[in-house]
Amino acid sequence: MDKQAVINESGRILDLILKDELTQEEKDRVVSDSVENYTEFVNPGILSVRKSVSTDYSFVEWEDEGAVFRDTHGVEFIDCLGGYGIYMLGHRNPKVIEVVKAQLDRYALHSQELVEPLRGYLSKLVAMITPGDLQYSFVCNGGAEAVEMALKLARLATGKTCFISTVNAFHGKSMGAVSATGKNTYRQPYLPLIPGFQHVEYADAEAIEKAIRNLVAVGESVAGVIVEPIQGEAGIIVPPKGYLTALREICDRYEVCMITDEIQTGMGRTGTLWAVEHENVVPDILIMGKAFGGGVMPVTGIVARKHLWENMKENPWILGSPTFGGNPLSCSAAIAAIKYTVEWDIAKTAAEKGDYIMDKLMQLKEKYPVLKDVRGRGLLIGMEFPTDEVGFELAKGLFDQRVLVGGTLNNARVIRIEPPAIISMEQIDTVMECLEKTLKTL
Ligand SMILES: Cc1ncc(COP(=O)(O)O)c(C=O)c1O
Repeated sequence: MDKQAVINESGRILDLILKDELTQEEKDRVVSDSVENYTEFVNPGILSVRKSVSTDYSFVEWEDEGAVFRDTHGVEFIDCLGGYGIYMLGHRNPKVIEVVKAQLDRYALHSQELVEPLRGYLSKLVAMITPGDLQYSFVCNGGAEAVEMALKLARLATGKTCFISTVNAFHGKSMGAVSATGKNTYRQPYLPLIPGFQHVEYADAEAIEKAIRNLVAVGESVAGVIVEPIQGEAGIIVPPKGYLTALREICDRYEVCMITDEIQTGMGRTGTLWAVEHENVVPDILIMGKAFGGGVMPVTGIVARKHLWENMKENPWILGSPTFGGNPLSCSAAIAAIKYTVEWDIAKTAAEKGDYIMDKLMQLKEKYPVLKDVRGRGLLIGMEFPTDEVGFELAKGLFDQRVLVGGTLNNARVIRIEPPAIISMEQIDTVMECLEKTLKTL
């Protein structure tokens, strides 16, 4: 290691972070540094795969607020991707930032040994805002990590082993989560995965029952059924009404844990605080993430019914606890996010703005047959195009007009509109105008 070189390079970067305003030369340098660093030190593939709408990579994210973010040169984008669901309350929501800053000035991370008050407060609030008798929380850092804990808890609580998941589901990319995920692209490179996962078609409750029955018939046991209330990355697939209710009955009948992955659908995204509320269903384990940290801190978790944690030889907390899980900074952000979401009825806002967008999209669908389908709920909306290429062209056309949208991970034909709930009606209208302009060119 060249000690002086490390000090110089890190010092140069810290100067950039600490500066209020960059010079023109510094702005250009950040762009060229970023492309070089991604190529040399992140990995070259990621530029072409992940950042493909800006083919010359000249846009580098630098600052954000509300429903917009700006690049180093101050070019402003309306964010209709919303960080794949993170930015329900907008970018750097002032109420969340204020609380996180105050907590940062008190203490940032925890000793790991003492009782952590904010984790306790957050868990109480989670029990207050989630349906039915969901009570005990486990707080962690990433969505996949929360999915892992949900799967582990289901196994510990039931003493059973197998899981039923759905084709095209997306539950994350860690080994347990990707075992539940239902897309070959993410699973195949890691086969064999965790044994005991069976995938059935989404939106077909009977298929789930059959899978459980067959597994039991051949001597296996089923610990849980894991589903997204609306499949997000599969291309915004809304199941028919009654699907979740039927799953609840099946899970009760076979004494299987019903696990709903609300990482994307939760915190008001679909027009109710949790998407299971559309059917008044109480799952055994509900998984939270993305918008849970108010768009400021990475924080995820699960909340489960009390009885799952009882009569257990092992404490799932001890078996699962991650070092940073439930840290005070993250908890402070989640507590602020909960207050803001409930106080400002963000779910209702999402429902209303979602209806408005959906109406406009339906009109565009009539006018432009290239837009094959429009579907979704609240502010989780998908537009389906005939091919991946057309979907990509649409995303690129919008990007050129400074509107960010994105594909869905498991279905590139579907472009999502997933803006923050605090997006203004003027911004929505601008997005719709840009969309129509692009549709004309396809
Ligand atoms: C429904 C669902 N589950 C799990 C995950 C994985 O979350 P993370 O990327 O934070 O691991 C995602 C991410 O998109 C998701 O949408």
